[in-house]
Amino acid sequence: MSTTTIATTTSTRKKVTTLTFRQKKERGEPITMLTAYDYPTAMSIDKAGIDPILVGDLLAMVVLGYENTLPVTMDEMLHHARAVARGAKAPLLVGDMPFMSYQVSVEDAVRNAGRFLQQGGMDAVKLEGGRERADAVRAITGAGIPVMGHLGLTPQSVHQLGGFRAQGKTASAGKRLLEDAQILAEAGAFSLVLESVPARLAEYISKQISIPTIGIGAGTGCDGQVLVTHDLLGLFERFTPKFVRQYANLHETMDKAFTEYLNDVSTRQFPAAEHTVEMSDEEWAAFHKEVK
Ligand code: KIV
Repeated sequence: MSTTTIATTTSTRKKVTTLTFRQKKERGEPITMLTAYDYPTAMSIDKAGIDPILVGDLLAMVVLGYENTLPVTMDEMLHHARAVARGAKAPLLVGDMPFMSYQVSVEDAVRNAGRFLQQGGMDAVKLEGGRERADAVRAITGAGIPVMGHLGLTPQSVHQLGGFRAQGKTASAGKRLLEDAQILAEAGAFSLVLESVPARLAEYISKQISIPTIGIGAGTGCDGQVLVTHDLLGLFERFTPKFVRQYANLHETMDKAFTEYLNDVSTRQFPAAEHTVEMSDEEWAAFHKEVK
């Protein structure tokens, strides 16, 4: 199989594919995944060398301001997917299937997964759930579309789970999670997000299944890690999960910048001469003659 080298405005590196995932797991090299929802963030993440970008449905909360991920639609997801696809070329691009885009029927699941590739510029899709989604995973992968699974805290089931709570904390829940992971792998998923599950369980599952696991709040024993970029950057103030490490505080930076701008405009310190276009003295004199 040939590899593709793609030049972006910011970086030139090999396209990340599902094969890269498998190779990284075999070599024991951690897979790094981040989320993005817009063009400049996607470009910056690509430039940093991150493997996959997930256009996650958590954008419902961190970008659109909803209480949970349930309201976001396929059309809204595709709008953000296209912006990310314009900005990032090398990362594997994964579109997150929103609530009700794959649960009603396997036909819906395949059609909507296909829209992510045809209309959203994505390379793969992600969906939540275990054994109950095996048929959908089989059908989507059967259509040639790579599928990433998602187990543990699955935000689209927030009401069924009784809130955003850690999962798999009992022996029986752990066993069920392990079985679900095996079922998804057998159904053809190329990778699996494990969210908010005990670290020792996540490590055990990662060793038991052939496909790479990507952890979020699941310890270091997973084959890769993902964070929501707005959490990592300190952009989303409403709530920061325990498992997030903030690498910046952009919300504070934004507050400061907006206040300074307000002050500069109010005191006429902005715009300054260097931000201003001028007319020559001759043209200005001619202008006065014209308007007399
Ligand atoms: O929507 C999202 O960003 C996700 C991550 C938490 C993995 O599903």
